[in-house]
Amino acid sequence: MDDRLIESHFLKLAHLVETHTGIRMPPSKRLMLEGRLRRRVRALGLDTLTDYGKAIFHDGRLSEEFEHLVDCVTTNKTDFFREPEHFVFLRDHAIPSALRLKRPLDSPIKLWSAAASIGAEAYSAAMVAADVLGRSRVSFSVLGTDLSAQVIADARRAVYALAMADPIPPAYRERFVMVARDARRLEVRIVPELRRRVQFAQMNLMDERYPFDTNFDIVFCRNVLIYFSKPVQAEVLSRLCGHLRVGGYLMLGHSESLAGAGQRSLKQIIPTVFRRVT
Ligand SMILES: C[S@@+](CC[C@H](N)C(=O)[O-])C[C@H]1O[C@@H](n2cnc3c(N)ncnc32)[C@H](O)[C@@H]1O
Repeated sequence: MDDRLIESHFLKLAHLVETHTGIRMPPSKRLMLEGRLRRRVRALGLDTLTDYGKAIFHDGRLSEEFEHLVDCVTTNKTDFFREPEHFVFLRDHAIPSALRLKRPLDSPIKLWSAAASIGAEAYSAAMVAADVLGRSRVSFSVLGTDLSAQVIADARRAVYALAMADPIPPAYRERFVMVARDARRLEVRIVPELRRRVQFAQMNLMDERYPFDTNFDIVFCRNVLIYFSKPVQAEVLSRLCGHLRVGGYLMLGHSESLAGAGQRSLKQIIPTVFRRVT
């Protein structure tokens, strides 16, 4: 049977997704959306995507379904030390530069992974910070945020498939990663000392205000802006920039840029790494 969303349901869903999450849902993404929703159709005990559309748009089940819908439309692919040059930059430039900036006594260097997914980026940054700041009197904290409640729960748990640890440099793996005692489980977990430095919270980059500090030293916002339209990218970048201290660094994903975002307070340092200058 050809199980498809009916046109009007797709258009409503696309509008809803784009307004709430910023994620563009043009007709070219319809097949992908339908594929991901079929799993929800089965989980809900429904027969077809048409039933799903009816349930959320005619039977009042949209609000209870919304969280799952968000999980269906977000792409959560991530890795430890993804785009490794950013972590080299963090180690050799961004953290040493943050150390040179004036800060109140006892105030930590603050990092933010603003589309954290399951936490690999936040923990990678924490490993580098713990390494660089090991003997310094300045400490650090990492905030990881994401729209999806599911990935935030996974990030807090900090348990990963063994193979996911492969890109972690061996010295860091030895220091910050525990392997399950039962070798059959093929799992690793981030050590408690590092987990304590990394907090996670659910947050939508589309929100008009971000309820966090405005003086982050380093912000990662990687591989999420590509899903947004240009005007939404510009708005998000402007808000993120407002949370970055002057002299702090913003890292974007490899296929993202500030082009057209009108961000004059950010200066490009290397491709995809920017410094707030005013
Ligand atoms: C492809 S992952 C990127 C993960 C990590 N930054 C990296 O580069 O490996 C994109 C993440 O952005 C999140 N996301 C999508 N729209 C968002 C929004 N409006 N607000 C916050 N997070 C969002 C998704 O849930 C997903 O976990």
